[in-house]
Amino acid sequence: MRLTEEQIRQFDEEGYLFLPDCFSPEEVAALRLEAVSIYDTDRPEVWREKSGSPRTAFAAHTYNEAFRLLGAHPRLIRPVEQLFGEQLYMHQYKINAKSAFDGEVWQWHQDFGTWHRDDGMPEPRAMNISVFLDEVTHINGPLMIVPRSHKHGVFAAGHDLSTTSYPLWTLDNDTVTKLVEAGGIITPVGKPGAMLMFHGNIVHGSAGNITPFPRKIVYLTLNAVSNYIRKPTRPEWIAHQDFTPIVPVADDALLQYAQNYRQAAE
Ligand code: SIN
Ligand code: MN
Repeated sequence: MRLTEEQIRQFDEEGYLFLPDCFSPEEVAALRLEAVSIYDTDRPEVWREKSGSPRTAFAAHTYNEAFRLLGAHPRLIRPVEQLFGEQLYMHQYKINAKSAFDGEVWQWHQDFGTWHRDDGMPEPRAMNISVFLDEVTHINGPLMIVPRSHKHGVFAAGHDLSTTSYPLWTLDNDTVTKLVEAGGIITPVGKPGAMLMFHGNIVHGSAGNITPFPRKIVYLTLNAVSNYIRKPTRPEWIAHQDFTPIVPVADDALLQYAQNYRQAAE
């Protein structure tokens, strides 16, 4: 899959690109079931909300076959290679739960702010790719993005260690207000299988989920190999130190996996 000139222009100007039909319902069904079984395990990579509900599961591509195939999927890898003009490795991989009733807020932040400060990543040449596992609607805590906020570099941020269970470098209200006055806020919503890519400097966050509808989204952070992290401070399963370039799998690899999965369950 290659991005068109128009898609590249939109990404450069707005800082994000939304592709509503990237994966089929069949491909996503297996991932969704596997995500739930990962949340049910007691492993350090599964991070919990203060309530005990799952918040995120890190590094699933290293211990789960379905998520390994997603992490090397050409529909995700090829467009980012095209934009960066080089091969990629996986900097971070998380399956965010935003659990029904209990999913907590992600405060306003820029991801590159964290990658730079905590991991020693030199440049914002890493891309976030999100793949929806559940339907994301306007009410179950969709990701909120401030278009064009990626044009200003890294903003000053405070290290919030108390609002949620997850430490984050967050932006102050004045900064967010000015950016939103200029760019507004958008909430990409859509069916399972939708894909959203967004720039490492885009300002984003999400509100809590008090609905009965879970909102699971996988986030891959694909870093250009030459932009490997120089000063890791976080565990290897949060900020990976294996800089081996990703070799994409076949385009139908996830579909084959999902079909075998369904047959085994029948
Ligand atoms: C993130 O910013 O890393 C996650 C936000 C979300 O899942 O809502
Ligand atoms: Mn983020």
